[in-house]
Amino acid sequence: MSANSDTQAAQPHASRNLVVVSNRLPVVLTCDAQGGWHACAGSGGLVTALLPVLRNRGGTWIGWPGTDAGDPAVERAAQQAGAEAGYRMATVALNAAEVRDFYLGFSNRVIWPLFHDLQSLCDFDPVYWRTYREVNRRYAQTVARHAGAGDFVWVHDYQLMHVAAELRSLLPDTRVAFFLHVPFPPLDVFVKLPWRMPLLHALLQYDLVGFQTQRDRRNFSECVRALVPQAVLTGRGPVTEVRVAERRVRIGSFPISIDYNWFVRRAASTEVAQRVHELHGLLPDRRLMLGVDRLDYTKGIPHRLKAFRNALARFPELRERLSLIQVVVPSREDIGAYQALKLEIEQLVSEINGEYSKPGGWVPVWYVYGSLVAVDLLAYYRAAHIALVTPLKDGMNLVAKEYCACSIEEDCVLILSEFAGAATQLQRGALLVNPYDIEGVADALRRAWAMPPEECAARMRAMRRSIRRQDVYWWLDAFLDAAFAHELRGIPHVPVDGAQPESDYLPF
Ligand code: UDP
Ligand code: G6P
Repeated sequence: MSANSDTQAAQPHASRNLVVVSNRLPVVLTCDAQGGWHACAGSGGLVTALLPVLRNRGGTWIGWPGTDAGDPAVERAAQQAGAEAGYRMATVALNAAEVRDFYLGFSNRVIWPLFHDLQSLCDFDPVYWRTYREVNRRYAQTVARHAGAGDFVWVHDYQLMHVAAELRSLLPDTRVAFFLHVPFPPLDVFVKLPWRMPLLHALLQYDLVGFQTQRDRRNFSECVRALVPQAVLTGRGPVTEVRVAERRVRIGSFPISIDYNWFVRRAASTEVAQRVHELHGLLPDRRLMLGVDRLDYTKGIPHRLKAFRNALARFPELRERLSLIQVVVPSREDIGAYQALKLEIEQLVSEINGEYSKPGGWVPVWYVYGSLVAVDLLAYYRAAHIALVTPLKDGMNLVAKEYCACSIEEDCVLILSEFAGAATQLQRGALLVNPYDIEGVADALRRAWAMPPEECAARMRAMRRSIRRQDVYWWLDAFLDAAFAHELRGIPHVPVDGAQPESDYLPF
């Protein structure tokens, strides 16, 4: 347990039972040929961040176990997985039509692209919206079965923005908060949503709405100001208040993080050191560069591959001296845009390798399509001299923070997109790039490759210090302090975004 979590006992929220609600449980349950159910780890930043919180604090986690239909055996398997992990798990079953219209449809063909500013990828099918509301109601009903008036219900992410609106009549006295893991779009993008008004009002049913960055919070405030004229926004600083009739809603920014100490400890283990040694043996006499992303068009993987190709063309000294390991974790494979992206990535990888590989020797891109076990992921982090984290837009991006935490020798470089939430906190240590700027990213790559060790160390040290100070337990405390500020001292006090002054924020 971190120092931050040790201080929980002094806080009024420490004794509250935590009920976490997210679309997915942290495990995906699958059925084998004999009808037995097995749990395997889910992927993505939400699960990485919340797992240590639940493990340390206990509580209940409510979500979809990743299977199509309800089955008592699934509930039992989830309960068993929860018991092993040290907290309770409860499932919400989704049938095939709901998976199609709520999960693949409204969540991932409407909100996901829209909130990442990619409205041309949206499919505003009205059936999706109706199913989204129905499924959110079912999540609310499940919450009502597992939570009481004194509990703290914490709903997560864009799939469940409507839960509080459905929950108010079921649990009128329970404190319900929401955290959005993805960006909140600017007004001119948000207004494209045909259901912008009910969605905005649904968010205003929470007691606290948390965003990753000040920019997301500002975007939300601007939408409220423009679209809900009766709303009164008050307060300055990281946590402000919106009043609509009798309702008071706090809104704030709380940059999510990782269990820093866990990553440092595991990266330093003998098992990981052994894997790093094997990797360097397999790929000798060159520097390694790493990309780790879910298969997602927001991650900018094709742009990154083009930048690497550009660097190899313009800087011949990199040839045979630098290899890119690109890990792509399967995700949302039933959506056309994701299938097309996979083909595009594979085409680019084979073009680059076809153009530059040396038979029997150097291969520029090592492409890994699949989920990694922790020891392999940590070994990649530790072995890589450069991490290329270049999303076109990202709520936070935990891969960037994990890479820094695992870089225990502090002899490496993070190249980071200006459009990742993490850029605000890591701007002084990372080489910031515009992921759309192919030549600019190629230049940064050349610079990282040749960066003097003292500069690498100074930059990496600054980023690691900041992530250590503001780990996931800091994030939890900051959020809970804001949720219970009325019991603490009346005035929300939340240090956020690396405690940097407003003038330091990136302007986009
Ligand atoms: N990750 C994973 N499986 C893998 C490789 C990585 O679950 O095979 C994790 C990674 O450690 C990180 C998360 O997936 O915690 C990705 O989070 P991020 O915030 O970078 O992006 P997201 O996938 O949430 O959009
Ligand atoms: C991102 C989202 C999460 C989501 C995860 C994995 O991190 O913010 O809400 O769970 O991606 O995506 P999936 O669609 O597989 O749940």
